[in-house]
Amino acid sequence: MRIMCVCLGNICRSPLAEAVCRSLLSEYGLEKTVSVDSSGTCAYHVGEEADVRMRRAALAQGIEISHLSRQFDGDYDAYDMILAMDEENRRYLLAHAPDEASRGKVRMLRDFDPVGPGDLEDPYYGGPEGFHEAVAITVRSCRGLLEAVREELYGG
Ligand code: 4NP
Repeated sequence: MRIMCVCLGNICRSPLAEAVCRSLLSEYGLEKTVSVDSSGTCAYHVGEEADVRMRRAALAQGIEISHLSRQFDGDYDAYDMILAMDEENRRYLLAHAPDEASRGKVRMLRDFDPVGPGDLEDPYYGGPEGFHEAVAITVRSCRGLLEAVREELYGG
């Protein structure tokens, strides 16, 4: 199972989701069967490390982000699930999908948030608390995601 996390710049939210999922895979027994990557819908930050504010907020929870920004490659066949961080990313992914099967792979990260669905808000233009909030939401959503994946692959 290959999961691609997608946001706008690939320097805040989706590298966080990638790092959080990876840090949790072995806890869910999925380290051999699930791979996680991330990319952005825009190319502004290609090649850059994740935003230092995002890396610090993640590290405060023991999560290391080492990803370099890439633009989404449009290769829908290469992934089993394409996870949008917000509604704008979701619309982009649906608009660029070549067929119904590809559209069917597009989900929202917070569809798996036990607190409820919605956007993972972009913390980029806000204060430091937004980054810590993004980490908290992403950790609980990734736990929900990996539970659902484990259920799908192994029936629980
Ligand atoms: P991200 O945050 O989509 O979570 O990586 C953003 C980072 C940079 C910009 C927008 C969103 N930007 O416009 O530069």
